Amino acid sequence: MAPELKRITEADYSLFVKNLDLTFGFDYNPDEDTFRPLLEFERALGHTSGGTFVSTLGVFSLEMSVPGGVVSCGGTTIVSVAPSHRRQGLLNEMMKAHLDDVRDHDEPIAALWASESEIYGRYGYGRATDSAKITVARPYPKLASGVAEPLPARSIEKDEAESVLPPFHDTFRLTQPGMYRRTPLWWENRIFSDLPSRRSGYTANRWAVIDSDHGIEGYVRYRVRGEMGDDGHSAGELHVYELFATTAGGWSGLWNFVLNHDLIGTFIASLRAPQDPIFDLLAGPRRARAVVNDGMWVRIMDPRAALEARTYQSPFHGVIQVIDELGYAPGTFELDLSPDGAEVVPSSKSPDIILPVADLGAIYMGRPALAGLARVGRVSCDIEVLKQANRAFNWYPQPWCPEIF
Ligand SMILES: CC(C)(COP(=O)(O)OP(=O)(O)OC[C@H]1O[C@@H](n2cnc3c(N)ncnc32)[C@H](O)[C@@H]1OP(=O)(O)O)[C@@H](O)C(=O)NCCC(=O)NCCS
Repeated sequence: MAPELKRITEADYSLFVKNLDLTFGFDYNPDEDTFRPLLEFERALGHTSGGTFVSTLGVFSLEMSVPGGVVSCGGTTIVSVAPSHRRQGLLNEMMKAHLDDVRDHDEPIAALWASESEIYGRYGYGRATDSAKITVARPYPKLASGVAEPLPARSIEKDEAESVLPPFHDTFRLTQPGMYRRTPLWWENRIFSDLPSRRSGYTANRWAVIDSDHGIEGYVRYRVRGEMGDDGHSAGELHVYELFATTAGGWSGLWNFVLNHDLIGTFIASLRAPQDPIFDLLAGPRRARAVVNDGMWVRIMDPRAALEARTYQSPFHGVIQVIDELGYAPGTFELDLSPDGAEVVPSSKSPDIILPVADLGAIYMGRPALAGLARVGRVSCDIEVLKQANRAFNWYPQPWCPEIF
């Protein structure tokens, strides 16, 4: 019998999660299940066959920051198909049901992190953020002259982190397209749970903050792994998981604090923005190495609502035609974009810009991608229109999603 697609219930959970372990390579431990509290059962789905689940897909209902605002977003997660059932069209079927669900929830966009970057373009997702893994190796690099005096960083314990980080993050994320609101359950299960089995040989989470008159103006979360190299020099690693600041002295204070750890051979910072301040902080920027990959992918579901939810760097007036073979967001729209907001109305005029919905997703969060997409023929438009639209859609700070969901 063909596998049957169904919404899951709490009673299905143990079989549902078994397929995740099979696909992603974990051993389920009910005592360490930090995922179940976050699973939105009413939105999760999977195929059943032979009395078990052979596919899974979940959704986080996210409040996503976009330039100058926020938008509700269906955050796709835990996509898996059992090895016994791969390449039989199960993902295709799940994605159709999932995108229908996002549309029915009136979420103007959907987003995800892709395990492989070839998979989701066919469903209309575009590369909306870039993600850098940055490494800095010994010798300890100097800060450039002229950077803000590093503010003192203070190490704190977990209980203080639990009280001061969430309010800081909730303000900071509104200034950074690509970040999203963390609920208390999210903080508890994703950030503070810190299970020893998930530390990969590193210490527990360590925290340091930059104090300010009104709370904190930045924090870093990191772990350390102490090790001596065969050559008698330290070969330890310090891994930065989060580092956010709102002031120049905060950025320099936190990075300076990190780089001042002795007995570290390599500093690693993952899921960073490719324009991380480290490159402008160092006297020798070449000491910091970045490997840049695609980060979060965005799928526009409702062009009008999505485009009106953000603001723009400069004015743009023109007509765009969005091509969407899956039929969720196709149409021609007249745009009146400005730093104060946008008015988007369906139009029958001839378009100035023609682009696939995936490429609208690729520029939507402010990633400076439009000119590059036009250069390779993915977007059609006149060069003068391109320049104006490019200026309008780009954003500072560039979009950055510092957390995989
Ligand atoms: C990736 C995965 C979900 C695909 O599921 P599937 O049921 O085999 O996919 P389908 O048979 O529905 O294929 C759908 C389309 O995606 C393509 N596709 C599937 N997996 C792909 C991959 N890894 N790379 C590139 N294309 C892929 C198929 O060729 C097919 O293309 P087409 O419609 O143009 O013919 C499955 O292989 C899997 O679970 N992999 C391991 C876990 C994982 O990577 N999950 C994704 C997390 S973001």
